[in-house]
Order: sequence, then structure tokens, then C-alpha cells
Amino acid sequence: MKAWQVVRHGSPSEALELVDVDDPVAGPGEVLVRTTATALNFNEIDGCRGRYITVNPPMPYTLGMELTGEVVGGDPAWLGRRVVATASGAFGAHAELVRCGVSMTFDAPEALPGSDAAAFFFPFHLAWLGLHERGRLQAGETVLVHAGAGGVGSAAIQLAVAAGARVLATASGAKTDLCRELGADVAIDYRTEDFTTAVLDATNGRGVDVVFDGVGLVPPSLACLARGGRHLIIGFAGGIEAEDEPGITPRPLLFGNASLVGVMLAYAPDPAPRGITPYSVGQQVHARLNELLDAGAIRPVIGNRVPFADLPKALDEMEGRATVGRTIVEL
Ligand SMILES: NC(=O)c1ccc[n+]([C@@H]2O[C@H](COP(=O)([O-])OP(=O)(O)OC[C@H]3O[C@@H](n4cnc5c(N)ncnc54)[C@H](OP(=O)(O)O)[C@@H]3O)[C@@H](O)[C@H]2O)c1
Repeated sequence: MKAWQVVRHGSPSEALELVDVDDPVAGPGEVLVRTTATALNFNEIDGCRGRYITVNPPMPYTLGMELTGEVVGGDPAWLGRRVVATASGAFGAHAELVRCGVSMTFDAPEALPGSDAAAFFFPFHLAWLGLHERGRLQAGETVLVHAGAGGVGSAAIQLAVAAGARVLATASGAKTDLCRELGADVAIDYRTEDFTTAVLDATNGRGVDVVFDGVGLVPPSLACLARGGRHLIIGFAGGIEAEDEPGITPRPLLFGNASLVGVMLAYAPDPAPRGITPYSVGQQVHARLNELLDAGAIRPVIGNRVPFADLPKALDEMEGRATVGRTIVEL
């Protein structure tokens, strides 16, 4: 089968080669999925660059975290079903056939036909886990979403609006328009404007209740968090190295009555290992998200669709901050 493999470290178009590899075989607790479409994830750039410690298999390896397609092997209960899923180990998805753990596999939403379903899983599950499971968002609260025009950020804006929250968002340049279209009350270009000041201005000095941070902006975000506020650590698009560096000072947490909250999208079979979210919770999240999709309250933002051959170029564009929403790669 064809697969995009990381064969050396560099920019995506330097690192990736399209190669023929043996078909994978599903192991215990896995399904084999024939791919319809995959989605580009920001951390895949870190993988190409050789700086992603979380997913770091020996080269050459097949890149790619999530996909949609049809189950053609593995666990018989899943055979023939159209699914959204994460490749086992969170690599291997940018290929014609993919092994996926059953606990990271869900039925594709009926509201999202064909390749559209590829844009759904990570953004909406992660945003739900962050805002609701971990962030305990309440109607009437105020949320600040960083990188609000991105794949995950665009989902977070929509889910926060659907929950009855007031949304402020940051994004670079013209991407602020998309944040407003998705329901953000205030959209701040954080490349040209100090977002802490803008947020305090927009909230009459009170600050926001929840910050959804996929960029890695902890100190300046704590400075505009309200009493009892929750800062959700979602990711580090501004530099993944920060994930393992010291730098969080307790003072603003203590004196601001604030919480720092980690959020990890990974489901494991019940009973899940320490710290990991059980699959049963994922199934509840999936059901709630399907209700919102069916009601038309949320919709994945698909900024671009590219053929499989153009995957590296599309990932280069994401690295250059030139993408909005999800980029879908169609096989
Ligand atoms: N916790 C988890 O389990 C989990 C799972 C999946 C993804 N994530 C995280 O979620 C975040 C969003 O992922 P995504 O795939 O949806 O990506 P994305 O938001 O579509 O793309 C990343 C965005 O980050 C912003 N950005 C800020 N500083 C940047 C920089 N120095 N270089 C490039 N972009 C920068 C850009 O938006 P602007 O141009 O508007 O700034 C860019 O579009 C990432 O941090 C990712 O690691 C976490």
C-alpha cells in the first residue's frame, strides 16, 4: 500500500516520501481501516522536524494521527462500519490502510458524509474534553480561545457558543474574521495587539473564566483570568519544546485563585490506566457531539481539501500559519 513516511527530519516537504509498504495487520483490540480521508494535525509538523517527543517512532515511519474510512479487518464487531479513528500509537494514518485501537475508534457521524468526517474527531472531542470535562464551563461564563481559526480552536469556539458562553478569540491577521463568523464576540489579532489588555478591556477588567490554549501562552493568559478561572493547557503550537520546560510561576495562580488544567485526548479501554480518560467517557462525548451536529449547532471547518499527493505541501502551509480549520487529505 502507499504511505507517506518520515524518512529524514526537516520541513514536511523535505521529510516526507511517498513509499510502498506492506499492508498492516490488526492486532488484539484493533481494527484495520481502509482510509477515505485523513486530517492534518499540527503536531505532525513537529514529527517531521524531529522535535515531537510524545510520538517519536524510529524512522522511517508513516506519519498521520487520525482518519476516516471503513473497517475492513480486526475486531469483528466493527467490520463494515464507517468510522473516525486514531492510528495506533498516533502515527500511521497517512496511508491506504491503518491499524487503530478500538478505544480510539468511533462511528463516523451520519451528519458528516464521506471525507468530511475526517475533520471532526480530534477538534471536537478535544474541545469538549477541555471545555466541559476538564474546564467545567457554565452557561454565561466567558471563554478565551487562542488560535481560534485553527482546527481545534474553531471547534472550541463553536462548542463554547453552543454552551451559552461569551467567546473571545485570538488569531493572526484576517483569520480573526473567521473567529467572528463562528460566534466569537471579540476577535483579537495577537500578532499586532496585546491580547491581555484587549481581553481586560472587553471584560471591564474582570477577565475570562476559561482560557483554551493550544498555543502555549500561559503567563499572559493568567494575567487576564477571572477569579476561579481555569487555564486549559491544550497544546504548544508556539513551540512544542515548552512542553518539557520549567517556567510556570505559582504566584499568579495563588493570588489569582486560578487553576491550571491539563487536557489530553486519549481514550483507553475501561478501566483506563491512571490519568487516561476511559473509552466510556469518549462514547458519552461522541453521543453529545452527534446531537449537536444533528441539531446544526456545530460543523467542522474544512479550510482546504487536497489530494493524497499534495499532503507535504499542505503541511508546509500549516507550518507557515496559512491554514484555517482542518485540512482534509482525500485518498
Ligand atoms: N492535548 C491534546 O490531546 C491535543 C490533541 C490534538 C491537538 N492538540 C493541540 O491542539 C493545537 C491545535 O492543533 P491543530 O492541529 O488544530 O492546529 P491549528 O490550530 O490548525 O494550527 C496551529 C495554529 O496555531 C497558531 N500558531 C501560534 N503560534 C504559531 C507558530 N509559532 N507557528 C505556527 N502556528 C502558530 C496558528 O494560528 P494563528 O496564525 O491564528 O496564530 C496556527 O494556525 C496544537 O497545539 C496541538 O498540539 C492537543
